Amino acid sequence: MEKFVINGGNRLCGEVNISGAKNAAVAIIPATILAQDVCRIENIPNISDVSMMVRILYQMGAEVKMINKNTIEINTAHINSNVVSHDMTRHLRASYYLIGALLGRYGRARVAMPGGCDFGVRPIDQHIKGFELLGASVSIEENAMVDARAESLTGSAVYLDMVSVGATVNVMLAAVKAKGLTIIENAAKEPHIVDLANFLNLMGADVRGAGTDVIKIRGTDTLHGCAYSIIPDQIEAGTYMVAAAATGGNVLVKNVIPKHLESISAKLVECGVSVEEFDDSIRVRSNGRPDRCNIKTMPHPGFPTDMQPQMTVLLSIADGTSIISEGVWDNRFRYVEQLARMGASIKVDGKVAVVEGVENLKGAPIKADDLRAGAAMLIAGLTAKGMTEIENIEHIDRGYEDVVEKFSALSADICRVKTVETQEVAGVG
Ligand code: EPU
Repeated sequence: MEKFVINGGNRLCGEVNISGAKNAAVAIIPATILAQDVCRIENIPNISDVSMMVRILYQMGAEVKMINKNTIEINTAHINSNVVSHDMTRHLRASYYLIGALLGRYGRARVAMPGGCDFGVRPIDQHIKGFELLGASVSIEENAMVDARAESLTGSAVYLDMVSVGATVNVMLAAVKAKGLTIIENAAKEPHIVDLANFLNLMGADVRGAGTDVIKIRGTDTLHGCAYSIIPDQIEAGTYMVAAAATGGNVLVKNVIPKHLESISAKLVECGVSVEEFDDSIRVRSNGRPDRCNIKTMPHPGFPTDMQPQMTVLLSIADGTSIISEGVWDNRFRYVEQLARMGASIKVDGKVAVVEGVENLKGAPIKADDLRAGAAMLIAGLTAKGMTEIENIEHIDRGYEDVVEKFSALSADICRVKTVETQEVAGVG
């Protein structure tokens, strides 16, 4: 087991390079199954969620070649299984993309229900509805195995009851090789949806309208391999932007698409932070205490729910009271308990948090409840006075490449420390 130890209070200064987008990578890797060929993927983030997904494909018979730390070649020609067990899916939400990809290739998928961050109930009814509309029959078997099968898939109109990233991706994966036209209405518009569509099109698919709320997919019989470079991670970039703002720092966040960061930049500006946009980088500069602001998380292009915990940390030291409304997940404020240990004053009522800014946070032993909560704990530790120890950091490693190296290069005093295996885990019980 490992933990992060942070001696807080340093202003973050310098430059940081943003890695490829996790949520694009975990959709694009299963999409290679549809190619039955070699795909070369560049700008892959070196994080545990991605290695987990690659391992699943490898166990299914794909040939995997690591060209370097961020480039991979996957040959899915000889995949010999359409079954993915609970052991493989339990740590990874995105493992449900294997249902769409396997259904699209074989007309059959047996995939265990996915794991991932715990934000309350995470249903997949819209994914199932999409598969059924394309002609599949879907049942949940014993051991929570999702069994989806279809003689053949036929394009159809799929109206999603709520905007869902996962359902949009899964229907796209199942539809690219279906007969005829699929129209997804009320589709998610996140940058990683567009990235997946670009990847599928490069494999020979016909996907139009990604990035709007209507996506049209005309089925194609055969797809082929391709070489593709993944977009930069919007949430990793946002995390470093907020960390710079919270520590009164001056950081150039490089290898980003500023357009993807507009909602985050706008909120930082509202907090009195200076945000300067360049072609593929953003400079965030702040002196002193941030101003208060209100936030409501929403599907893209709204403020991303995956930046909510990080912004809460910033607002916990703001001048005034802020209101944060979570508009996507039922239960995404669990981490507030950790911030309270550091002196934050936050009251949560259901999906709303009222944050009364305090002058500063104080170092404390805390834990990462999930991936983005973990990112928030990092920012809290960096801004706090004194020593913070963060446990359960495997959540952070799921989504942040070289996080210690990147923060250290910005003058943070942070290190990764091995803990004794038998040591009691904070919060368990
Ligand atoms: N929903 C349903 N039924 C469904 C699908 C979704 O009711 O069939 C509801 C969910 O319960 C939720 C809302 O719809 O209230 C949105 O869920 P969505 O399907 O968009 O989320 P997801 O695909 O499971 C992805 C990201 C999450 C991110 C959300 C929202 C991946 C692998 N995960 O999850 O990212 O929070 O979209 O933007 O892309 C993270 O990276 O830390 C992370 C959790």
